[in-house]
Amino acid sequence: MRVFVADHPLITHKLTVLRNAQTPQPTFRLLIEELMTLLAYEATREVRVEPHEIETPVAPTTGVRLSHPLPLIVPILRAGLGMLEGMVKLVPTAEVGFLGMVRDEETLEPTTYAERLPDDLSGRQCFVLDPMLATGGSLAAAIKFLFDRGADDVTAICVLGTPEGVEVLEKAAEGRKVTLVLGALDEGLNEHAYIVPGLGDAGDRLYGTI
Ligand code: URA
Repeated sequence: MRVFVADHPLITHKLTVLRNAQTPQPTFRLLIEELMTLLAYEATREVRVEPHEIETPVAPTTGVRLSHPLPLIVPILRAGLGMLEGMVKLVPTAEVGFLGMVRDEETLEPTTYAERLPDDLSGRQCFVLDPMLATGGSLAAAIKFLFDRGADDVTAICVLGTPEGVEVLEKAAEGRKVTLVLGALDEGLNEHAYIVPGLGDAGDRLYGTI
């Protein structure tokens, strides 16, 4: 698995405002979206394209366009939804699928509670959005789910991550093509599985405590 941690002063600046407990909800939402657009630039560095011939007002030339099957963006419900618009802004022709993961209270394993994805993901590049890579359990399950459906290239994009979460994803990748793009790699997890220093509960800060 390849891991990219963003190293850009604008990203660090926006992350600082995002982390601040005083930042109001509308600003928090806007910043998640803006950060996503900046991270999407890095995450799509290897998006598949094919030659595309056009004519400028001056001369014919060959550029590129996204190859088919088009990339699939998969926000993990619910907090991943906050990142969706930021990604779609950069890749407006991508398709979007949805995956809801929840921890089974008996087995403590992440299970899928909602899913709206093509049955066959053969040949698809998938971009999974989840702001917080904490223990890594649900993101690892989401990545396995996509590979089981036939995906051959998965990029996970997270605003914050932990060394523990990265290790769990490494194991889940099992040698397949997985790329992880992080806004920052934080110190680790506290006893409540919150990222430290982190930014608190991303879903609650985006959408309230329901
Ligand atoms: N999920 C969050 O929203 N925040 C954390 O710190 C950990 C998991």
